[in-house]
Amino acid sequence: MAENKTGFSSSFGAIMAAAGSAIGLGNIWRFPYICGKYGGGAALILYIAFVFLIGMTLLLSELVIGRRSGHAAIQAYASLKPKRPQWRYVGVLGVVACVLILSTYMVVSGWTLNYFWESVSGALSSVEDGDYAAHFGAFASSVTAPVACLIVFAVLTLVVVLGGVQSGIEKASKILMPVLLVLVLLLCVRSLTLPGASKGLYYLFHPDFSLLTWEGVLAILGQALFSLSVGMGVMVAYGSYLPKGDNLFRSAMWITGCDTAIAVLAGVAIFPAVFACGQSPEGGPGLVFNVLPVVFNSLGSVGSVVFGGAFFLLLAVAALTSAISLLEGIAAGFSESLHTDHKRTAVVVTVGLMVLGVLIALSFEGGVLSGIRLADMTIFDWFDKLSGAYLPSICALLTILFFGWFMKKDDIEDELSNHGTVRTPWFKVFYYFLVRFVAPLALVVSLVAGIWGE
Ligand code: PFF
Repeated sequence: MAENKTGFSSSFGAIMAAAGSAIGLGNIWRFPYICGKYGGGAALILYIAFVFLIGMTLLLSELVIGRRSGHAAIQAYASLKPKRPQWRYVGVLGVVACVLILSTYMVVSGWTLNYFWESVSGALSSVEDGDYAAHFGAFASSVTAPVACLIVFAVLTLVVVLGGVQSGIEKASKILMPVLLVLVLLLCVRSLTLPGASKGLYYLFHPDFSLLTWEGVLAILGQALFSLSVGMGVMVAYGSYLPKGDNLFRSAMWITGCDTAIAVLAGVAIFPAVFACGQSPEGGPGLVFNVLPVVFNSLGSVGSVVFGGAFFLLLAVAALTSAISLLEGIAAGFSESLHTDHKRTAVVVTVGLMVLGVLIALSFEGGVLSGIRLADMTIFDWFDKLSGAYLPSICALLTILFFGWFMKKDDIEDELSNHGTVRTPWFKVFYYFLVRFVAPLALVVSLVAGIWGE
């Protein structure tokens, strides 16, 4: 069983930190678009089923592994199965996935800082001819601004992680998550009161099962896992910081509920406004950097400063709390297994991530390194592909197999029931079935189908 170490001081702080990890760029620019594209309400129902049945099953298993072992990813698996130390490679794989994701995530997060600044300074509303696609292309392919923004974002992330679990991560999350909620609600109100907003709601919520293709099912499952930050060991590290008396099932429900609610609210904040301004729905950077500035611009000079500023601040805050968890996951994983100082490790990791980040930033379409290509893909494309593609699903599959088939059932039940003090009748009937059969099967099917479809 785990020895005591400094962890989150309260259940609320722990839930805010884990929800902060879950709520990120994915909620804001990917979820609403996936929903709209694959059948609105039909996709939403499937998403809710996937996120609560499969995503939450994984989340709960990572939290149990972390709290039971008291360790971050690499050490956690090995310490729960001392006779089979090779399980540590699941943790190693998770840390590699975190490095790939965070280096790309930091570049894009840096862009959001630039756009926040351009919104509040009024620069975004005076873009020549309102050609935001050209404006974004010129910005992202330049050298100084994207690199400077990346460095500022990386330093912000590092400062919070260096503050420690309680005074850094927990404190920052307790402030930033309510800010995020206020910002998203403010944007929802503005968006819903625009004339013609109902078309956006129709796009998001009207159930059209004919659009729910097989490709859509896979995209929705992938989004459910990415959104809950599972499969990379980050939640194992956070699990090791959870208070001993926390009811893990309840915490996982809260984290999943908050993550889903913010994703839906982001859709309500974005698509009614997009449709009201006659723009077409998009996902990813195209939506955020090309389409939405047009929408904000149409709200007048004050409106664009207030709502554009609020939106890019929302993105930056969501990205920051996710980046914090990724950096913590990497730093804790390395420092525990290499027996190095946690803070020093975080600094070294951040410097390494910045170097990778600069390479990624400068290789974006049109950038000075965009000529370096492998199989006709730039460095940016490779990182984007590798971090989004199979690694997280493979780690998630190995994690759930470890949990369901190799960890002692009594240990799992003891941890979930807080040594018999919380009743867990649902465990025997339902949860174990999900862990052993449903979640692994879903992951295998999605991996095989993904590779097949390449
Ligand atoms: N869940 C985050 C998002 O939706 O943007 C991304 C993420 C954070 C993925 C942390 C994985 C992770 F470990």
